[in-house]
Amino acid sequence: MGGGIAQVVAASGRRVSLYDAAPGAVDRGLATMRRSLAKLAEKGGADPDDVLARVEPVDDLVPADLMIEAVVEDVAVKTELFARADGVLPGGAILASNTSSIPITTLGAATSRPQSVIGMHFFNPVPVLKLVEVIRGLETSDETAGAIVALAQDLGKTPAEARDLPGFVSNRILMPFINEAAYALLEGVAEPEAIDTIARLGFAHPMGPLALADLIGLDTCAAIMEVLHEGLGDPKYAPCPLLRQYVQAGRLGRKSGRGFFAY
Ligand code: 3HC
Repeated sequence: MGGGIAQVVAASGRRVSLYDAAPGAVDRGLATMRRSLAKLAEKGGADPDDVLARVEPVDDLVPADLMIEAVVEDVAVKTELFARADGVLPGGAILASNTSSIPITTLGAATSRPQSVIGMHFFNPVPVLKLVEVIRGLETSDETAGAIVALAQDLGKTPAEARDLPGFVSNRILMPFINEAAYALLEGVAEPEAIDTIARLGFAHPMGPLALADLIGLDTCAAIMEVLHEGLGDPKYAPCPLLRQYVQAGRLGRKSGRGFFAY
């Protein structure tokens, strides 16, 4: 998602520094951006080279007005990054997270500026989907929230605000739906293709829940269920054993070539 976010920010005319600690990740992100920009250019979108000229790969965090973090859904990794960013970005800068479910208040507490820490949650594929869920932590200021709402609008997105409670709104609804689809598969209610066909044609969803889970990443889905389970304390949110098992097997969805379906 980091590449998608960099793409929409660069397409709005802003300069972006793109950093990922994992070797090769920035190059993969740039390749995905190139493919996406080419599709959009066919429909009259911006010149891909113009947009990509505003994206600079960097080897570490750099000073900027805004950081949008999109690392793995692991609270230890995110808090370490926020603490480090707090030391690198200038005092007035906003530190935003694209987290699906990690509490914004926890990320804010890892910094000396919780008033400038906020959730800016995009949806996959970022260049196509219009929503940005904006989540204020306990200490997030009105000024920070206003700036992020205005930025989302300027990127051509529609912001919607949610409170900092487990899963916010989007994943409180979406993940139990995906988890239940995994249970339907585990219990032999239907084959994967039938489960997805029922959601696509029966509820007019653009993708079935299993294909969508593969797009999001099964590790991410399992991690979000754990956050809901732990945060809300209700056994109904426990990740489906099949989801856990696929993650253990390295079947993470599209990014690993196989999840509920093969790619
Ligand atoms: N960049 C640019 N354009 C893209 C694109 C991309 N990455 N992906 C698709 N498109 C364009 C296509 O070119 C096509 O354009 P056209 O209509 O002008 O030809 C259009 O989008 C539709 O794409 P396709 O014809 O390939 O296929 P679909 O109609 O099935 O659309 C989809 C693909 C947009 C992925 C659609 O299936 C969809 O919206 N799926 C649901 C996605 C969803 O629910 N995402 C949310 C996940 S939750 C999340 O991200 C949050 C996290 O916290 C978990």
